[in-house]
Amino acid sequence: MITLGIETSCDETALALIETRVVHGAVEYKIIASIIHSQAELHSAYGGVFPALAKREHGKNLLPLLKKILIEAGYISNDKTVGAGSENLNSEQRSVSQKTVESTKFESSINKFREDFSKQNPDLVESFKDSEFLKTIPLIDRIAVTAGPGLEPALWVGITFAKVLSEVWSIPLHPVNHMEGHIVGSLLDSDKADNIWKKLKPLQFPALAFLISGGHTELVEIDRNGDDLAQLSYSILGQTKDDAVGEAFDKVARLLGLPYPGGLHVSNLASAARTENIVSEVKLPRPMLHSPDFDFSFSGLKTAVLYAVKGEEMKNGVLTDSWKKGLAREFEDAVKESLDFKLRKAIDKTGAKTLIVGGGVSANSTLRTTFEKTANEYAISLYLPTQQVSGDNALMIALAGALDSRTHADGFKAQGTMRLN
Ligand code: KG4
Ligand code: ZN
Repeated sequence: MITLGIETSCDETALALIETRVVHGAVEYKIIASIIHSQAELHSAYGGVFPALAKREHGKNLLPLLKKILIEAGYISNDKTVGAGSENLNSEQRSVSQKTVESTKFESSINKFREDFSKQNPDLVESFKDSEFLKTIPLIDRIAVTAGPGLEPALWVGITFAKVLSEVWSIPLHPVNHMEGHIVGSLLDSDKADNIWKKLKPLQFPALAFLISGGHTELVEIDRNGDDLAQLSYSILGQTKDDAVGEAFDKVARLLGLPYPGGLHVSNLASAARTENIVSEVKLPRPMLHSPDFDFSFSGLKTAVLYAVKGEEMKNGVLTDSWKKGLAREFEDAVKESLDFKLRKAIDKTGAKTLIVGGGVSANSTLRTTFEKTANEYAISLYLPTQQVSGDNALMIALAGALDSRTHADGFKAQGTMRLN
């Protein structure tokens, strides 16, 4: 089965094509193509994601990116010739001649879309002036789109776009929970579009997912749902009471004068401090270490950084590079200790046999090393995302859609289920 994934929940416009199959009960996948178009540079001028700009950019870019990925996958060719083959397609795929949308149906669907959305989504509608290539129906079985959680205006561009494709091509549409995407994305061993079949990392139950991103900090318990081994159930053990961990990194970055998104910049400063043996004189709090639950809180830590920065500026007028490095290290250590403390508590409680870490912050090398150490101590498997899959991407959305994800867009509260075959 081939699934097209569409992701527009925040400031990445991403599309991916993945093929999946089940061999002896195990899920295998083949990445056909994956594109991530980041808007981060545009948003950095605002110090964070500016929703109206995200909406506009998704609207402008989705259709051209779709054309690009269909060319890469060999479904259409550069010169718009319908049904052209490509190196990427296997012989079985190439031998199936692609169908085209009947002209009147095409015109009426596109016209209706123009009428319905020209006010709400002018950039997306405008981009459809080059939509002729949509007349070729690609060899896709399902369209998976991020339905939430995320920035409402950004999400709606992707959803509207996916609906048009689904209507024009008569291909079923599948809403995907972004956070579930981050979970299943970490089950991918590779993010290379190499058309090679690979096995999805196997899950042992109960499993625990630790989702650490710019919008979420969640510990999610994953188990089988009743007798149906193909379905999983999720329940949230704990989450942040205020800022998400990535948000805290971004806010601290801003206080230190670093560009958005700041996580990687803070992490680089912290690494430099470790290499240069710089230790901060400022001691930051380790949030929530004594709370009996599995929840997190990072706003106090951020405020402590704010006071430290103000204090240092009062004292010395400027923040020296060395001071910033020391503070970044201290901040990263405080985050690491509170995440790891709650993670260990959650493993103790659930008896988890597999630990899945997902979300943008899982790219952090200090945290990755910490989680590896913890998983080793507990002798459990640890699944970390590859570089491309740690941030927002459409591979994880396509995969979640392919696995028949049926979670609810408003988080995991509603005990979602996901089929594994
Ligand atoms: O999952 P993601 O791409 O988007 C959301 O769904 O939120 O996560 C983005 C977050 C940002 O806050 C970014 O600063 C953070 O991930 N991040 C990092 C690192 N790389 C990205 N935080 C700490 N260390 C990193 N290396
Ligand atoms: Zn995300």
